[in-house]
Amino acid sequence: MSDVVTLSNRNGVAVVTLQNPPVNGLGFAVRTGLEAALRAATDDDTVQALVITGDGKMFSGGADIREFGQPPPDGTPPLPMLIDTIEASDKPVIAAIHGVALGGGCEVALGCHVRLATPDARVGLPEVTLGILPGAGGTQRMPRLVGIPAALDLIVNGKLVPAKKALALGIIDDIVEGDIVDAAVAHARRMVSENLPIRRASALDDKVVEARGTPEVFDDFRKTMARRARGFEAPFACVDCVEAAVNLPFAEGIVTERARFRELVASDQSKAQRHAFFAERQVTKIPDVPKSTPTLSLDTAAVIGCGTMGGGIAMNFANAGIPVTVFEVSQEALDKGLDVIRKNYAATVSKRRLSQNEMDQRLSLISTTVDYADLATVDVVVEAVFEDMALKKEVFGKLDTACKPGAILATNTSTLDVDEIAAATNRPDKVIGTHFFSPANVMKLMENVRGEQSSPETIATIMKLSKAIGKVGVLVGVCDGFVGNRMLYAYRRQSDFLLEEGALPAQIDKVIYDFGMPMGPYAMGDLAGLDVGWRIRQQQAATRPPHLRYSTVADHVCELGRFGQKTGAGWFRYEEGSRTPIPDPIVDELILKISQENGFTRREVGDQEILERCMYPLVNEGAKILEEGLAQRASDIDVIWMYGYGFPRFRGGPMFWADLVGVQTIYDTMSRLHDEHGDWLEPAPLLKRIAEQGKGFRDL
Ligand code: CAA
Ligand code: NAI
Repeated sequence: MSDVVTLSNRNGVAVVTLQNPPVNGLGFAVRTGLEAALRAATDDDTVQALVITGDGKMFSGGADIREFGQPPPDGTPPLPMLIDTIEASDKPVIAAIHGVALGGGCEVALGCHVRLATPDARVGLPEVTLGILPGAGGTQRMPRLVGIPAALDLIVNGKLVPAKKALALGIIDDIVEGDIVDAAVAHARRMVSENLPIRRASALDDKVVEARGTPEVFDDFRKTMARRARGFEAPFACVDCVEAAVNLPFAEGIVTERARFRELVASDQSKAQRHAFFAERQVTKIPDVPKSTPTLSLDTAAVIGCGTMGGGIAMNFANAGIPVTVFEVSQEALDKGLDVIRKNYAATVSKRRLSQNEMDQRLSLISTTVDYADLATVDVVVEAVFEDMALKKEVFGKLDTACKPGAILATNTSTLDVDEIAAATNRPDKVIGTHFFSPANVMKLMENVRGEQSSPETIATIMKLSKAIGKVGVLVGVCDGFVGNRMLYAYRRQSDFLLEEGALPAQIDKVIYDFGMPMGPYAMGDLAGLDVGWRIRQQQAATRPPHLRYSTVADHVCELGRFGQKTGAGWFRYEEGSRTPIPDPIVDELILKISQENGFTRREVGDQEILERCMYPLVNEGAKILEEGLAQRASDIDVIWMYGYGFPRFRGGPMFWADLVGVQTIYDTMSRLHDEHGDWLEPAPLLKRIAEQGKGFRDL
């Protein structure tokens, strides 16, 4: 038929097979091929029924996202039209689903008259995660099959459901063992020979009629998602479309769906979310560490230090089924650390997100020791002791002696030089940074810090480890703060300067929160604790360049014993047992006093200025990092910020957002700010260069 869609006739049953690896994406060529195959099967009088299936790993991963925004070649049929053709067929059409049927792939299946799936298949409409909605009938057919509550859950949350659940919900009609295409062909024959009726999802209406006249169902749902979906457009458009399925005839509901789809697909939000999708897949690609690089085994692990980070890291191993030995200075420290781990698991059990059995199983994978000799056979060690170079070197020296020669020794340091730590061993090629984010058992990001001598094998193994424990690993280079925190410093510095110049913490936090970050810098500081940073700043005081502006506001807050939520007060105050930040006149007065002492005439600081002063330096620092080769690509920085700091996905990460704003605009503003406020705001040479070339970070 075509290269990407084949047609065969199995004694009267036409088998239409999508053949477009890797995911059978429904791109232009596939749609053209599918149309031709459907026409041929319809016109062929010997064909009595059709089976649609996918070759390779899956039925179909949906529309080809890469083609969004591109004009289709003349004559390419739109997917909704093809699905209507399938559904309208007088000959029964069976979907034979294996692997996944997602997005447009799922919608093709919903257009078929019967859906059969293998036991391990999964189906779903994840479009919302790309900032769009199921635009090929999914918002109209799915509610008619599964009812409103389930449809809302599936479409608005973009959930993938396994075959068993899909069967229970009514998305699929049966689960079959053995060859799925054979089963579908047999089913098709039975439909023909027994003259079984054809069931079209668009014609069903009992489940939507049931919900008619109950707008509160939708209003309530919108309320429940308000916080989760804050700032996102697509989830709300999904609800509107499901509501349209309830209140409008199918043909009109489809018009609403189409209009909303077109709106969303052209939006910056969707561009950003599509960028995020591909950025996440790009991070695994390392030019000098090809996929063929051999990796070491990761059957057993050890974690050194069972404090805040070590405990969480140990949980990651146990969660992934990897036995882990936790090493501490004393039995007492071990008991304390294990107690926290136990409480963490117990909290998850009480929220019913883990069974008691699973908790016990995971805990059984965690063993403890105070003896280095017990680490002799582990494959990988993650060190998470205090942030102290001398201590880290001592620990690495001991690990080097105790662990087998092939073991990888990783450090969770957040600020120290990985190369210096590596030099304390005789295996610098097997030393690497694994910078987890707090809470380590929750946050998905790992900055994997390649040292000068980290070998390709070590890098490939640690990237594999990230995946194995359910993290997003991004490879970065050695520098102060690595990529994420180095950029964070640039932004935090300016926000403190703004306090001196006229803003207050609550105002800055509101601007940043409204931008889409989970919280502003001051609420975030209070959550993380202010004392650690204070201690680091005290250590750095002697080496701080005197000509560079330094804000003492944060130090003064700490001097009051206000270390954040843990002391009930920091930048904000907190009521007993509450995590809600409340602006505190004590801090506001303190800020006013510091402004005065440092000779600032306080002025009105506008919200736009706050956004620019905080976010543009962040982007500027990202540009420096790229220029220094410490991140592989701009989109890697975006992944770091989305996963490590909650940068809103609908903005695609700071570097993608910079392109949306316009690099020229950012460069011009940075130049002006540099003139007004001095050194810290000097535009990065790379920013200047791409602005002059009229390009964006996407072009690098
Ligand atoms: N379009 C274009 N490329 C896609 C794609 C898609 N829908 N889905 C995956 N790819 C690409 C990936 O970018 C990757 O490319 P590289 O190898 O160049 O990096 C390659 O296919 C393999 O993808 P994964 O690494 O993700 O493979 P996997 O086996 O781990 O997962 C998958 C497969 C579950 C299908 C996963 O890729 C996925 O979730 N894809 C997106 C599914 C989706 O969101 N579909 C909805 C599309 S929108 C739509 O359909 C609109 C509509 O209503 C008409
Ligand atoms: P922590 O103070 O909570 O825990 C450190 C643990 O190390 C303590 O339990 C201590 O008993 C143990 N320890 C000290 N010396 C040891 C030794 N010689 N052998 C074995 N154990 C020893 O510290 P935290 O916050 O867990 O930090 C650990 C590392 O993780 C540091 O390098 C830190 O910079 C880094 N990090 C911390 C983050 C955070 O948010 N807390 C985030 C990312 C990295």
